[in-house]
Formats: sequence, structure tokens, C-alpha cells
Amino acid sequence: MRVLSGIQPTGEKHLGNYVGAIRRWVAEQHEMDAFHPIVDLHAITVPQEPEALRESTLDLVALLIACGLDPEVCTLFVQSHVPEHPRLAWVLECMTPYGEARRMPQFREKSAKSENFSVGLMTYPVLQAADILLYQADVVPVGEDQRQHLELARDLAQRFNQRFGETFVVPEGTYGEVGAKIMDLQEPTSRMSTTFSGDLGLVRVLDPPDLIRRKLRSAVTDSGRDVVRSEDKPGVTNLIEIMAVATGDSPEAIEARYDGAGYGKFKEDVGEAVVALFDPIRLRYADLRGNPGELHAILARGAEKAHGIAAETLAQVYERVGFVPP
Ligand code: TYM
Repeated sequence: MRVLSGIQPTGEKHLGNYVGAIRRWVAEQHEMDAFHPIVDLHAITVPQEPEALRESTLDLVALLIACGLDPEVCTLFVQSHVPEHPRLAWVLECMTPYGEARRMPQFREKSAKSENFSVGLMTYPVLQAADILLYQADVVPVGEDQRQHLELARDLAQRFNQRFGETFVVPEGTYGEVGAKIMDLQEPTSRMSTTFSGDLGLVRVLDPPDLIRRKLRSAVTDSGRDVVRSEDKPGVTNLIEIMAVATGDSPEAIEARYDGAGYGKFKEDVGEAVVALFDPIRLRYADLRGNPGELHAILARGAEKAHGIAAETLAQVYERVGFVPP
């Protein structure tokens, strides 16, 4: 089984990214043939400072390894190092109805923020489909927010296969049983997000321990005092899921443990659990980030392996579409 899932290099990575995606990649890398691109081509769909983009790309390599991705086991690479991504994306763009691209929820959300959004922001999900289909990925572990993008990737694979013959594996999105959608700590009805969350609403993987404790202490809870999951308790439900992931206990066990304890004590303990989860990552990160030469070497190896597979798929696609070989 092959797994592929990408992550954008911009914005400091947060609890949502960790819980919804990264920790699952770490768990699955030993069972599957795993590919994890850092998607810098996606990052420039909104304006980026060149030097900051370069730095944050290396920051993310170090962070992913610090979180437990092992570049000896999985293929960790930078999307722009493999030229087949935009090449396949172009072919797929020509098979994507304009109306369908325009209706994608993330595009609508992000384009609403500015009048001068780029065409790339709209074709973003098609490039994401290319990322997945190039590697013939069977499964794509992501957070809930990526569900529509995964649907598009499946549609495009099926459409291409129907028109030109079996070419692509139709990928399956997979979502964590717990924590597929980590919510903003201050506005627990919205997703925790670099673009939309305020500073207190989001816990960065690299936040210092005291700041993590403070953010969890001031997390918005709900009326009442029962530590139980329910639709009308989005704040407490979110904290229970965070605690479950951080400790490895089931949500039910946590509800039982905090029966009658009250929100103050519970939030204190969630803070400690998240500190214990991220503390070793922060320490490893500092070490890894101090050695950029090694990070570049890891990326070069990753790109070489990724390129071999991507080139094979693209050659087949070009042939099926009717391009004369060079
Ligand atoms: P990105 O960089 O925004 O997020 C990386 C991963 O983190 C997940 N995530 C969350 N999960 C749970 N709760 C949250 N609050 C939360 N916020 C983010 C995302 O679902 C994602 O899995 N378009 C993608 C990157 C991408 C990609 C791909 C993913 C490009 N090509 C191919 C899979 C396959 C994105 O922007 O992720």
C-alpha cells in the first residue's frame, strides 16, 4: 500500500496539523510505502516572502523529523524539486470544469479574504490531485478540512481512467477516528487554522511550555461543568479529543477520569499533557534545525526517489493524452 500526504511550509505548524495529519504519518510510515511532500508550490498561491519561504521549508523538514518521520523509512521531499507535479497538474486542469474548481470550499473561504487572489488559488486542489495521482497513492491521511480536495482527486482519477484507460489508482482519503478536526481553543466552532485562528486559539508545536499551559488554561469551555463530549459542548469535546491524542487514552477513559472534577482541573491537565507531547519534539527540533546541510541532503535523497516514480507516471499520462514523445 502506498500512502501520500503533503503539508504546506508556511505558517508555524499547530496542534491541528499534528493531530489530524503528522502523528498519523509517523504511525503509518512503517506499514506502508510513504511519500510526504512539503508543498511549496501550493504555498505561493498566496504571496510569500522568498527568504521566509526558503527558511520555513527547512524549518518544516526539521519539524517533521523531530515529530518522528524517519527519512530513512519514508520519502520526505520538496514538491518543487519534482517537476512532474505542475506538469501533471496542467493536464488535470484541462479536465477540471471551471465551475467545479470555483465551488471548492477552501477556495471560496480564502478568496473571500482578498479581492486580488490568484488563479493559482483556484487551481490549488488540482495541483493537490496531481501530488497524489503521480505516486499512485492508495491512501491519503488528512484532516477533515481536506475532504473535498480528496473527492476532486478521486473524480479526476476516475475521469482520466474512463477517457484514456486505466492509468491512476483512485485514492482513498483517511481521517483520524479522534481529532480529524481540531477546533480553535477560543472559538471551538471553527477549525484551528494558521490563516483564521488568533494567537490564543492555536497551539504551535514549538510554543514554549508556559505559553502552551496558558493557552489551554484560557481555552473556552461551555456552560455546565461535566467533562463529556456532546454536540452542545464543542469546547470541552475538543479538549477531550486533544487530551486523548496527547495521552493515548480513549475519550471514554478521560470522561470517566474527570467525572466531577470540573473544568479548571481538567484544562490544567490537558495543558500538561500537550506540554509532555511537544516538549521532546521542540528539543529535537532545535538540534536538527542547527544542521541545514543534513536537511538538504535528506531532501536531495527524497527528491531523487520521488522523481523516479513521478516521471514514470507522467510519461504514461503524456503518451495516453496523445503527446508526441520528445
Ligand atoms: P495543510 O498544510 O493546511 O495542513 C496539513 C495537514 O494538517 C491537517 N489539518 C488539520 N487536521 C485536524 N484539525 C485541524 N484543525 C487541522 N488543520 C490542518 C490538514 O487536513 C492536512 O492534512 N492542501 C493541503 C496540503 C496538500 C496535500 C497534498 C495533502 C498538498 N498536496 C496531497 C494531502 C495530499 C494543505 O493545505 O494542508
